[in-house]
Amino acid sequence: MKQVSQADQLKQLIAQARSEGLRIAFVPTMGALHSGHLSLIDQVRTEENFVIASIFVNPLQFNDQSDYENYPQSLGVDARLLSDRGVDVLFLPEPETVYPETPNLISPEDIGSNLGETLEGEFRPGHFQGVLTVVSRLFDLVTPDIAVFGKKDAQQLAIIRQMVAHQLASGRRMPLKIIAGETVRDEDGLALSSRNSRLSSEQIEIARTINVALSSCQGKSVAAAKTEAREILHPEIRVDYLELVDPESFQPVDDDYTGSTLALFAGYVGDVRLIDNREISIKGS
Ligand code: PAF
Repeated sequence: MKQVSQADQLKQLIAQARSEGLRIAFVPTMGALHSGHLSLIDQVRTEENFVIASIFVNPLQFNDQSDYENYPQSLGVDARLLSDRGVDVLFLPEPETVYPETPNLISPEDIGSNLGETLEGEFRPGHFQGVLTVVSRLFDLVTPDIAVFGKKDAQQLAIIRQMVAHQLASGRRMPLKIIAGETVRDEDGLALSSRNSRLSSEQIEIARTINVALSSCQGKSVAAAKTEAREILHPEIRVDYLELVDPESFQPVDDDYTGSTLALFAGYVGDVRLIDNREISIKGS
């Protein structure tokens, strides 16, 4: 695995791979890697792909400074994990490479999206602007044919798909396929997250009630699902939202809704903010 931090070094490696007829597959991360990230790599680790992973803790997407400062970092271990997994290039850009001058900020409104107003958008003002800005910039640098994002960040995945569609339609970007990776969970169902490393073993037990609560929504009416899920969540969890939404629009479903939904959770265990979601069937009351 090659490790590069400069845009021109990256460009050369990409040109070489393309000249060999390979497709560029990209897995952007903020490091502190776990099996969820590695499963994203596995999805594109094929003969015909040249796999580039990036690690960049993007200051623009943290609305909470202490979350940014405490974001876990483990570069040495991460590099070994990626190399063992068969990644071709680890891109470790410096902030100046990602944001050369004043960054050209991309907000949800700029791409015609209303996802910036709800759920993560509502609770983390500026977060999606930071995500869209960095992802677009990384796409410009890496010029991928395929990019992979995890379903745990369901709203992020949706808004990135919207941005790519918007940029393709306006001729701003070459065709790019976005692939979704399944959420990886521990043996008790807790969704893997880099932030889990900041939880004590007691807090891990508390956090495990999140998946139990979301999964409990299956087959119930909207009202029953929401009430019972709240009861299952450990009382020490500070909930930002627990919502049943349409998987496309991320708008809450009506009380008499029947069909597929996403059950979404965000909240705090201690001072660590966690999110999770489950695809759920709801039965109208
Ligand atoms: O999901 C993440 O780790 C980040 O939001 C991403 C997509 C790497 C952008 O910084």
